[in-house]
Amino acid sequence: MKALVLLILTIWLNTKYGSCALSSCSVPPSKWCSSLDSAVKCGVLKQCLESNFTRSHEATEKVQVALYYESLCPGCRQFLTQIIYPTWLLLNEIMDVDLVPYGNAAEKHDGQKYIYQCQHGEPECLGNMIETCLMNLSSSAFQIIQCMESSANVIKSAQICGELQDPELSWTSIMSCVKGDQGNQLMHLNALKTDALNPPHQYVPWVTINGEHTEALQDKAMNSLFTLVCSMYKGPKPKACGGSQSHFRSYCYNE
Ligand SMILES: *[C@@H]1O[C@H](CO)[C@@H](O)[C@H](O)[C@H]1NC(C)=O
Ligand SMILES: *[C@@H]1O[C@H](CO)[C@@H](O)[C@H](O)[C@H]1NC(C)=O
Repeated sequence: MKALVLLILTIWLNTKYGSCALSSCSVPPSKWCSSLDSAVKCGVLKQCLESNFTRSHEATEKVQVALYYESLCPGCRQFLTQIIYPTWLLLNEIMDVDLVPYGNAAEKHDGQKYIYQCQHGEPECLGNMIETCLMNLSSSAFQIIQCMESSANVIKSAQICGELQDPELSWTSIMSCVKGDQGNQLMHLNALKTDALNPPHQYVPWVTINGEHTEALQDKAMNSLFTLVCSMYKGPKPKACGGSQSHFRSYCYNE
């Protein structure tokens, strides 16, 4: 299918631009694919289309990993810090992570606002809220959340982790989100997302892969998310997927 599309495009473009224009290639190799015109003139149209194809393919087909969790649940902290974060560091080219801090919480409508109750009490609601606001306001949210969740005190470490991982971050704006309507509304979205799970979650950490949860996927995610993501990814495998094994099998010989 892909080959056919490429063939048709190539024929059409060659007809349109003429195919004897090789001599007029006047741009350096790094720019050959920068436009259709230069690709045709430099005789590399097929290669450019293919590499663009691969790139857009990769962008659309990332494995979607979602984690439904709560900020103070020990199993969640362990999964987040020891499995999902290191996996994402190695495989972020081929996987997206969606963190939904809410878990076994409950919400009650109270006028314009929602009131939240969390399994591990008030501090957990605060932790969930800080993490939710971080995801809205910092491009380093995952790093900050990782830092918080691996610290002895998730809440107390929040500001230090924030400032450490994202020097641009204004802690004042995080706290005004946490205490204000914005955080309240964002948490409501977490509640809606969690309540919409199908099947409904029975525990946390609860994982979905490409929106799907089964016992088998959950087990694989818990045991080796890395292998699962590599095997589910349909595009060309990144080096990390193949390289890990040989990495673990490298020896220092006694000569
Ligand atoms: C390849 O992709 C770049 C960026 O998306 C685009 O500007 C360029 O025209 C594409 N080249 C070809 C030959 O399709
Ligand atoms: C942040 O939250 C606002 C709503 O309060 C929303 O409109 C916006 O898209 C969010 N931005 C990100 C990056 O999530």
